[in-house]
Amino acid sequence: MKRSLALSVVLSLAILAPSAMADDGSSVFLAKCGSCHVKGGQATPVNPADKASVVWGKYFKRGRHPVDFSATVSGDDLAAIVEYLKDHAADSDQPAVAVIPK
Ligand code: HEC
Repeated sequence: MKRSLALSVVLSLAILAPSAMADDGSSVFLAKCGSCHVKGGQATPVNPADKASVVWGKYFKRGRHPVDFSATVSGDDLAAIVEYLKDHAADSDQPAVAVIPK
């Protein structure tokens, strides 16, 4: 019993760890922002490289987003997304231009 529990913990870590490590916020961004911002969706595609890091840092704080998405995007989600947007902004080392294809 103990052994199978240990085994399942090891197995689930093996399954979860690579994706958790690769997750730099892009999956939250894709799931949450991408639900509206997608080609043919209710809003045009957005990408981190659309704006400079400092702009992303202020965008949501200052309430610039035209639509209230608080029902689907938690504060924690948004914080992770903003970090991701800043890390891959236009003026970052790794600008992300087409995470959501245009
Ligand atoms: C409920 C749907 C919805 C969600 C979720 C959503 N948006 Fe939007 N967003 C819109 C709409 C509608 C507009 C205005 C129309 C447009 O820009 O296509 C907009 C506009 C924007 C704009 C302005 C576009 C411009 O050209 O300046 C940005 C930037 C933006 N959203 C980023 C985001 C990010 C980042 C997220 C995820 C945290 C997000 N949005 C989540 C619907 C949404």
